[in-house]
Amino acid sequence: MTDYGYVCSALRELAEGVDYKITVLANASALLYSSMEQLNWAGFYLMRSEKLILGPFQGRPACTVIGMGKGVCGTAAAENRTVVVPDVHLFPGHIACDSASRSEIVVPIHADGKLYGVLDIDSPVKDRFSEDDRIGLERFVNILEACLEKGLK
Ligand code: SME
Repeated sequence: MTDYGYVCSALRELAEGVDYKITVLANASALLYSSMEQLNWAGFYLMRSEKLILGPFQGRPACTVIGMGKGVCGTAAAENRTVVVPDVHLFPGHIACDSASRSEIVVPIHADGKLYGVLDIDSPVKDRFSEDDRIGLERFVNILEACLEKGLK
């Protein structure tokens, strides 16, 4: 089980004194990837021109652009809610960037009253993400949102 108390305080420390959003996001993806078990991908897609483009991540190279409403990421963005997919093979329209992925969680990120992007985490294990993970990752995203609204470049 992930210690979200530790992960959230580590994120606060990593973001302390940092001037750039991309730097915070890069370390946030590395923090999650190294702190959570049974993952094969953790990272961000960011809103640009009404689409989600690949941001900082850990894992194998991934698809670079996702349309709103497409795949798990585009669904979470379009519906503005966390989407937990216990078995990606059963999610119509799932975009398979890594064929090893079996389950996925995507959490929308907001900044300055707008959708900023999504946090996307993939696991090679079916049903990897529990309600505790959803709550913990939403807390993690809340901290990120506070950082992104601090006027970082
Ligand atoms: N599976 C995602 C695409 C991104 S990769 O998992 C990194 C989706 O269906 O939106």
